[in-house]
Amino acid sequence: MDWGMKNRLSRIINPGTGRTVMLAVDHGYFLGPTSGLERPQESIVPLLPYADCLMLNRGMLRSAIPAEKAGLPIVLRASGGSSVLKELSNEEITLSMEDAIRLNASGLALSIFVGAEYEKQTLDSLSRLVNEGEKYGIPILAVTAVGKEMGRDVRYLSLASRIAAELGAHVIKTYYCEDFEKLISSCPVPVVIAGGKKLPEPEALELAYNAVQRGAVGVDMGRNIFQSEHPLAMIQAVRAVVHEKATPEQAFDLYNSLKN
Ligand code: R5P
Repeated sequence: MDWGMKNRLSRIINPGTGRTVMLAVDHGYFLGPTSGLERPQESIVPLLPYADCLMLNRGMLRSAIPAEKAGLPIVLRASGGSSVLKELSNEEITLSMEDAIRLNASGLALSIFVGAEYEKQTLDSLSRLVNEGEKYGIPILAVTAVGKEMGRDVRYLSLASRIAAELGAHVIKTYYCEDFEKLISSCPVPVVIAGGKKLPEPEALELAYNAVQRGAVGVDMGRNIFQSEHPLAMIQAVRAVVHEKATPEQAFDLYNSLKN
């Protein structure tokens, strides 16, 4: 692996702990004005000191993230083209490598939809993005997206994660599931988990805890942080789980003390 690729990966996954808290705020690319992301200057910017890395679209980066936060590593979403109103898997590459470099992305994210109508198109896009990323030393994070009809069990998520790794993805973002350690044992690259729909805070902290206990390098979490009643307290509690080995109970105590 060349130096540029290593350097960028070390900005996504903290080399000190081997873990990462990525804050995912890219939902608007297919969901529009997602609850909690309507005014990112107010809801997201205060959370940035507690994120190792921010995952977002270039539109939000340019319009909402102030210059004084320019040192924060970013993973830019590079796929899109569908909306929640249509077939979700019909995505293409939406970002040029030139713009990714101009914006100094530490990584690029793309969704694959294994088993969906446009499976081949999304796997082809992943392969092409990996080819481009390898040219410039930019790691690719593959998101194993799940459509409405698709499973979330270990068999399906292991299949999708392994395919993404075999096609050259450097990091996989997937969902936590029962027997998650089986997915980790068959995936040769680091795995982070999405948080999914908003859960009560103790459950979201337990999800993050179980994922890192069973081999994930961290979280790429969105709604369970920015839709929390106390997002600043929640992101710090998630950090405690991921980086400081806090139990879900200790992290929830921290959440309660910080929210006050
Ligand atoms: C979905 O494709 C997006 O990449 C989201 O950023 C991702 O699902 C993580 O967000 P959440 O924790 O809200 O599921």
